[in-house]
Amino acid sequence: MTDPVRSIVRRFPGVPTLEGAGVRLRRSFSNNEVPLFDPFLLLDRFGSSDPDDYLAGFPWHPHRGIETVTYVLDGRVEHGDTLGNSGVIGAGDVQWMNSGSGIIHQEMPQRTDGPLAGFQLWVNLPSREKMSTPAYRGLGAADLPTVRADTGAEVRVVAGTHGSVEGPVRGIPVDPTYLDVRLTPGEAFANPTPPGYTVFAHAIDGDGAADGADPRPIAAGETVLFGPGGSVRLWAGAGGMRFLLVAGRPLHEPVAWYGPIVMNTRAQLADAVRELNAGSFVRERRPIVEE
Ligand code: FE2
Repeated sequence: MTDPVRSIVRRFPGVPTLEGAGVRLRRSFSNNEVPLFDPFLLLDRFGSSDPDDYLAGFPWHPHRGIETVTYVLDGRVEHGDTLGNSGVIGAGDVQWMNSGSGIIHQEMPQRTDGPLAGFQLWVNLPSREKMSTPAYRGLGAADLPTVRADTGAEVRVVAGTHGSVEGPVRGIPVDPTYLDVRLTPGEAFANPTPPGYTVFAHAIDGDGAADGADPRPIAAGETVLFGPGGSVRLWAGAGGMRFLLVAGRPLHEPVAWYGPIVMNTRAQLADAVRELNAGSFVRERRPIVEE
């Protein structure tokens, strides 16, 4: 069986961006890159040791037609939504939220003694699911299985599989893989990925490279998009490397994007704006119950 290794085909250093009510973050890719990362729409990396960079947060705002995946590495993010969920996303926790037909939520980083760090990934929904019932999944750090190798490597599995270990996030339309991989210096990592899927990695820290036609180093903070193939192989440089590996089945559908709302047609965007103005955007609303 042939299993051609995927090569890096594009590199994204990330762009400093002011988002929400004034949060300084680094945007790896977004609407300018459609459809390169299909089914993924956006990757933001937030984090700072200066609370002024993040305390303004992301006050109440709507989403429709997408899933937002928040992964906190350090610090705390308070959240609440119109489904009645509220709580804190702490270090190592994941919130995998399906906005479906419409949700209004807020995401507010809190001041702590240490730094704040994390990611938000937007995952597109297929047209048949864009007006589905919103759903929220909160996963604590203890819910995420970690594969530890004798070499010292650690792989946290949020979605998809590594070896025989499957992540707890299942049943997502685009069949995503979401891994947080830590390699010791010089160590290698490989994972099979289905042919035809979109695959990218984001280097959190350290340094390394990928097998394939572009063996140049991957710098911390860089996002690399892989071309076609059947598996992806990376290895760490002298500093070790921690990275996210993300894969998903592309949708190959038209994208109509207006801020936090991503649909298939402009008419659907106009509907969303009209419903927001009329107060009929959210179909399912439950009061927040304080934990
Ligand atoms: Fe949001």
